[in-house]
Amino acid sequence: MRRKLIAGNWKMNTDRASAVALAKGIVGGVDKYKAVDLLVCPPAVYLTFVAEVVRGTSVALGAQNMYHEGNGAFTGELSAAMLKDVGCSHVILGHSERRHILGETDAAVNKKTLAALAAGLVPIVCVGELLAEREANKTAAVIRSQFEGSLAGVSAEQIEKVVIAYEPVWAIGTGKVATPQQAEEVHADLRKLLTERYNGQSAAKVRILYGGSVKASNAGELLAQPNIDGALVGGASLKADEFLGIAAGAVG
Ligand code: 13P
Repeated sequence: MRRKLIAGNWKMNTDRASAVALAKGIVGGVDKYKAVDLLVCPPAVYLTFVAEVVRGTSVALGAQNMYHEGNGAFTGELSAAMLKDVGCSHVILGHSERRHILGETDAAVNKKTLAALAAGLVPIVCVGELLAEREANKTAAVIRSQFEGSLAGVSAEQIEKVVIAYEPVWAIGTGKVATPQQAEEVHADLRKLLTERYNGQSAAKVRILYGGSVKASNAGELLAQPNIDGALVGGASLKADEFLGIAAGAVG
């Protein structure tokens, strides 16, 4: 049985005070949601402050990006070891904003994924199609190619630790959520890709999150789908009540 994971991607939002307040608000309400894994991913500069708040609680800490090299002359970048050092257990990789705004390729996401796994961080590897791709019936092909490119060289043992996030680009920050059926169709395809590439046992262990305009009011029906194992939440993760409301939807 896969435990549901509700992850908040705070993106480039909050300031130090509001990040700490948000983390405190979430930590204050987690007792009711012991059956769900909760994760917050603040901007990198606030990781240490949020780490202080979540330490010793059931809320995990993640980063929004990292670089694949261990250390050295890579101005502006952060390594997996640095993220672990400040208390991260997870890292979001290949988010569509990084792919489409910052030009990140599958090859780059793949290097980061392997580096995160080697360092003992759980990578949350994002895939998702553009609206034009969906309208051209290319969703399955786009997802397959991102899956293959981003997860190349990941072993059967490693894949069980990976989290995959399906985030249709047209649903991110638009209020236009995928229907539970649209999301489940892609999640089931991803599970099939995992089974073909690895085996049924490993595939059954991988958590596949849905992301794109998830909020407390629509989380329940999405999370009730058999292959939707959690949510990667943007806007609605910036309010503790709303985020916890999504966790409530995961409990059922
Ligand atoms: P929204 O929940 O704001 O649509 O963002 C989704 C997302 O990109 C999470 O990573």
